[in-house]
Amino acid sequence: MTKRNCFCGRLNRKDAGSKVIVAGWIKKRRDHGNLIFVDLGDRSGVVQLAFDPRVAKDTHSIAHSLREGWVIMAGGKVLLRPADSVNPKISTGEIEIQVEKVDVLNSSLPLPFSTDDEVELNEEVRLKYRYIDLRRPVMQRNMQLRYEVTKAVREFLDRQGFIEIETPFLTKSTPEGARDYLVPSRLNPGEFYALPQSPQLFKQIIMIAGFERYFQIVKCFRDEDLRADRQPEHTQIDIELSFIDEQDIFKLIEGMLKHVFEKTKGITIPTPFFSLSYEEAMERYGSDKPDTRFDMELKELSFLGKEGSFSSFQEIVKNGGCVKGITLPGPVNLSRRELDELKLWATNRGAPDLAWVIFAEKVKSPLAKFYDSSTLDKMAQASGAKKGDVLFMVAGSKDTVCKALGQLRIFLARKFNFIPEEKFNFVWIVDFPLFERNETGRLISVHHPFTSPCEENIPILETNPDEVTSRAYDIVLNGQEIGGGSIRIHKKELQEKIFKLLGMDEVRAREKFGFLLDALSLGAPPHGGIAMGLDRLVMILAGEKSIREVIPFPKTQKAVCLMTQAPSPVEEEQLRELHIEIRED
Ligand code: AMO
Repeated sequence: MTKRNCFCGRLNRKDAGSKVIVAGWIKKRRDHGNLIFVDLGDRSGVVQLAFDPRVAKDTHSIAHSLREGWVIMAGGKVLLRPADSVNPKISTGEIEIQVEKVDVLNSSLPLPFSTDDEVELNEEVRLKYRYIDLRRPVMQRNMQLRYEVTKAVREFLDRQGFIEIETPFLTKSTPEGARDYLVPSRLNPGEFYALPQSPQLFKQIIMIAGFERYFQIVKCFRDEDLRADRQPEHTQIDIELSFIDEQDIFKLIEGMLKHVFEKTKGITIPTPFFSLSYEEAMERYGSDKPDTRFDMELKELSFLGKEGSFSSFQEIVKNGGCVKGITLPGPVNLSRRELDELKLWATNRGAPDLAWVIFAEKVKSPLAKFYDSSTLDKMAQASGAKKGDVLFMVAGSKDTVCKALGQLRIFLARKFNFIPEEKFNFVWIVDFPLFERNETGRLISVHHPFTSPCEENIPILETNPDEVTSRAYDIVLNGQEIGGGSIRIHKKELQEKIFKLLGMDEVRAREKFGFLLDALSLGAPPHGGIAMGLDRLVMILAGEKSIREVIPFPKTQKAVCLMTQAPSPVEEEQLRELHIEIRED
């Protein structure tokens, strides 16, 4: 046979009667004695091959030996299937190829797992044999979607006058809040490059170099604890512009996401997106990445520390704490054991305690005895609870209460299926504090040290740093932070002041960021930007729960690539060249 001349999944009833040659992997083989059927798949889909001894005897006997996973090329005539064997579920379901000739291009050992979508698979085995896993239709669709998203992004940004500029991977550490991956330098003993946690400083330098509108779809490396939405190397759509403000960025990103959703999903998303201040997001949703697809908002109930006789609430409120609650819409039947389990769940995640009130015919709660009926009515009113609903309350410092209820809100919504999965809800989070404090009480940046404070807060930077608001923004989709950015500091003096507040003396600031300070003093324009997490965006578009499903070769929670077994030991000789000695801890 010569060469294939069409793709398996593209054939349909219009091709009936024509002669074709297809190639691909055997997905399934069914031996009906005389007739043998093979489902042959390539990237475009699957087509049924029929081997009939009356048509080609030799070919039919080869078909006996074919197995799942083998690579073959088959030529024959496209025939309409008899009405009773039409498969309406696939686009090629009305036809089959009556095979006249077959070439086995390669055999295969039995596959470690079937490449059908339906099978439940162990993730470790999938990652070890990722190339087999990637043959599954769902993974082929996810990779295709990822490509479509990046294509739409490039298309959109190109039309808006952006150019893509590459920045180095072997570079100097840029603080984005994680540990660096370090690369030892052979030519400079004892010195290391850091793989970039993001191209943050380079994109600012690109603005200083006068490019005005830059983007890059780029890998970023962060050595941090991994979760379903975090990988040691993730991909960002990194963007930076000059002579703009927050509103320009919002408009640009809304336009870009609109374009991506239209191109990849055929969905028109409404713009502009609404925005919430960081404080309001924490107060109402207990999270700076609120899932706004459902209500169950946090309600203020601190009056419970001033009425009735529940001493725990009274004590907390007297000491400046608060009481807040969320309402689980009823009717729900929660047993005492389930309520205890929820309490344990919440206390394991930082809640000092979890109180509950069931608004049944008669109010049921361990707290009921501390309050009279008018306070209980007030409680129902303030929390929005109706008959049949369950109110959960946490008391403590505002931060602890909001964070604990925020987590419980998501947990309950998932457990009771309140989340409308088909919705896409975007929200900008703005007015973040510029700093937070670490365990030792030292100031650290909420975003990164190059984020501009609000103009009007500059005078209080040194006197009240905790009260300074930043010009940073995050974009949240369905409770996932899919991007973040800020208007940057473009004046050297202000940047130096921030470094100082972060505990960096002048010598260290110059040593680490001298090149940035120099650049800022050589005509830096006002500028700002954003980075979108491509993996998270594609994950949501694909309806997946983990970014590993949309990354071709992801790592495990322990940052291991199960296919290549990286990381792995290296030769002694390599270490010597790099001037490195392994220390046994
Ligand atoms: P930030 O650190 O917020 O900002 O990152 C931008 C976006 O990248 C995604 N992201 C990740 N995705 C998967 N795995 C990870 N480990 C991971 N870390 C981050 C998130 C996040 O919103 N330089 C700044 C951007 C800027 O200021 O322009 C930055 O990197 O979706």
